[in-house]
Amino acid sequence: MNRLSNKVAIVTGAAGGMGAAMARLFAKEGANVMATDIQEEKLSTWVNAAQQNGARIGYLKHDVTSQEDWQQVVDQTLALYGRIDILINNAGIYPGPTDAESTPVELWHKVMSINLTGPFLGMQMCIPHIRTAGGGSIVNISSIAGIVGGNGPAYSASKGGLRLLSKDLAVSLAKDKIRVNSIHPGGVLTPMTEEIIASEAGREAMKTLCPLGRIGTVDEIAYGALYLASDESTYTTGSELVIDGGLIAR
Ligand SMILES: NC(=O)c1ccc[n+]([C@@H]2O[C@H](COP(=O)([O-])OP(=O)(O)OC[C@H]3O[C@@H](n4cnc5c(N)ncnc54)[C@H](O)[C@@H]3O)[C@@H](O)[C@H]2O)c1
Repeated sequence: MNRLSNKVAIVTGAAGGMGAAMARLFAKEGANVMATDIQEEKLSTWVNAAQQNGARIGYLKHDVTSQEDWQQVVDQTLALYGRIDILINNAGIYPGPTDAESTPVELWHKVMSINLTGPFLGMQMCIPHIRTAGGGSIVNISSIAGIVGGNGPAYSASKGGLRLLSKDLAVSLAKDKIRVNSIHPGGVLTPMTEEIIASEAGREAMKTLCPLGRIGTVDEIAYGALYLASDESTYTTGSELVIDGGLIAR
């Protein structure tokens, strides 16, 4: 129940899917949470309901590509809770299956901007405050697409970039007791993947391709993030936690 007592966590992309699951779980484990997303109405609906049940969760409309929005998120989190210990860079988009020749450069830039520049800006803005708090944990939600190919050039490059960005900051921030790790989910049922993997064909493909024979749940990712966010993982930095039912173990 209290694995994150006295911690303050920012979770991006928290209107639904994995972000909402992480924000809920972190609050249940004692954290004060700032949940953010570009979809304000969807975000506020579940956060208001959670607040009525006593959860310590605030929310803000936030475009992760905007420095001004990040400044607001940092300022509001400090005003509300007084510190920042944990940053979960979860917001992301999947542009669908494309190949290099059919990927317009505008789409390439959009995917990079949300999936890679967004987490970079978040870390840049939050690091000074996590340092002031005496150290903490940053978790970047990458993908198995950041480790193996086959998911389209822009998505793969953005998630592979996020994987190595995490390792670079893990090295440079270790002296400040700021740990940086990445999580690499496989196929997880969320609004992003509903149409792809929730179909009959998608479920059948997962049965065949995935050693555990099924699609993952958002809570199975949230528990991985909880471990990396908590003081249970104080010797873990620069690591990549693959949560994929064994999909890329073959
Ligand atoms: N679902 C999967 O199978 C899977 C697998 C591997 C990795 N991922 C990654 O997990 C993360 C969470 O995705 P999800 O599956 O929960 O999907 P999701 O679509 O439910 O969540 C992504 C959230 O990011 C938000 N977002 C998009 N652009 C934004 C922006 N510019 N600023 C702020 N928020 C923005 C969306 O509004 C959405 O709520 C993503 O980074 C995704 O790439 C998902």
